[in-house]
Amino acid sequence: MSGIFISFEGGEGAGKSTQIQRLRDKLASKGIETIVTREPGGSQGAELVREVLLSGAAKKYGVTAEAILFAAARADHIDTLIKPALQDGKWVLCDRFADSSRVYQGESGVPSQTVEALQQVAIAGHNPDMTLLINVTPEVGLTRVSKRTAPVEFDGPDRFETDTLETHRRRQKIFLELADKEPERIVVIDGDQPQDNVTDDIWQAVQRRFASVMENSTTDQLPHEKG
Ligand SMILES: Nc1ncnc2c1ncn2[C@@H]1O[C@H](COP(=O)(O)OP(=O)(O)OP(=O)(O)O)[C@@H](O)[C@H]1O
Ligand SMILES: [Mg+2]
Repeated sequence: MSGIFISFEGGEGAGKSTQIQRLRDKLASKGIETIVTREPGGSQGAELVREVLLSGAAKKYGVTAEAILFAAARADHIDTLIKPALQDGKWVLCDRFADSSRVYQGESGVPSQTVEALQQVAIAGHNPDMTLLINVTPEVGLTRVSKRTAPVEFDGPDRFETDTLETHRRRQKIFLELADKEPERIVVIDGDQPQDNVTDDIWQAVQRRFASVMENSTTDQLPHEKG
């Protein structure tokens, strides 16, 4: 049986990385095996591209080249990690995915047809079963990020964290527009709330959507006990 693919999206400091760990723990307590991964990166080839992108080294080659690099990383990530894990019946929880390209590359001026064409090639039909869009007010998210004590990979903020507040606001708007267009896939979660409330909302959304799959995925039942 194929696994479930869930992507986490939202602006900087929305709580994606925090909540992905919490959902992983919750699923583990139900006996569901997950793979937690992130974009850009997540696989060997894609992690190489991640460094080029987030350090800002690729910025000088223009937004289209950046969009192509994101897609290249995604193709490797899908092929070498996501697809095999899903085929194994595992749940894949991915920190950012194609919607981040739609929002970030779209906002920076890459035509949406170009972004979509790149997704078609990179994703090859492997769309998330569910996307949790953690919607955060940019000021709130950026304040959290500025206080964050977790280790960061580069010396300062990454390529996208230094953008203006207006840019962050435009991204938030585009994320919400995507959710309006695909309400079956994208669930909007209020990310301004305290962490535990965000966790509860996410768990409710996941249970609502995957209740029957979860019953069949748990490993704490013997095969003959399964309905
Ligand atoms: N709901 C919340 N309320 C208050 N603080 C939060 C909340 N969610 C996360 N945080 C804190 O805010 C900071 C950013 O959270 P986190 O790293 O999970 O966000 P993120 O969406 O992954 O950000 P980025 O886009 O930069 O990767 C962390 O220090 C985290 O502990
Ligand atoms: Mg994060």
